[in-house]
Amino acid sequence: MLFRHLLRPMSEEDLPQIAEIDRDCYPFPWTSGNFSSALMAGNRCCVYEEAGEIVAYAVAMSVVDEIHLLNLTVTLSRQGWGYGRAMLRHLIACSQAECYASMWLEVRPSNHVARRLYDSLGFIQVGVRKNYYPAEQGREDAVLMCLDMKSC
Ligand SMILES: CC(C)(COP(=O)(O)OP(=O)(O)OC[C@H]1O[C@@H](n2cnc3c(N)ncnc32)[C@H](O)[C@@H]1OP(=O)(O)O)[C@@H](O)C(=O)NCCC(=O)NCCS
Repeated sequence: MLFRHLLRPMSEEDLPQIAEIDRDCYPFPWTSGNFSSALMAGNRCCVYEEAGEIVAYAVAMSVVDEIHLLNLTVTLSRQGWGYGRAMLRHLIACSQAECYASMWLEVRPSNHVARRLYDSLGFIQVGVRKNYYPAEQGREDAVLMCLDMKSC
């Protein structure tokens, strides 16, 4: 259950906290500068706050009539509480309301939690990007997934 939460746009002041969460959650995290560039580029960047603390955030980029999800992260201590699903459903609803046709994302094949979330919201696998992600040894492919929002 979510309580005392607020979904709002990301700001520059959030970036130290967000970069710290990203470092905790990924072996190859985004830097504060990466998030800053995403904000300056006009991407859709939003955060979930719980009692004044950021617990989740997302970054999505629009290209013509497509939305590309670049980052979706829930802080370690709140994973499995429903924030990831709530954040993604919010992005899908906003994108549909603005008449975007589809949402796209990449996910590591080994990321079973994220893949279950995306499957459950209707994303389908449409391809594989070879050697997309850095990995501990070499590179890892990405599964490319798409949600057709015209049929949602
Ligand atoms: C992937 C992530 C965004 C999901 O958000 P979350 O808030 O933890 O997940 P939710 O509580 O909203 O659960 C959504 C679904 O994920 C799956 N899931 C969540 N926790 C799970 C777990 N421990 N084991 C297996 N599946 C799980 C379930 O399908 C769940 O749906 P259900 O509760 O109806 O069964 C979050 O775990 C995260 O930030 N992980 C680290 C970063 C990451 O991998 N980001 C995605 C990169 S593509």
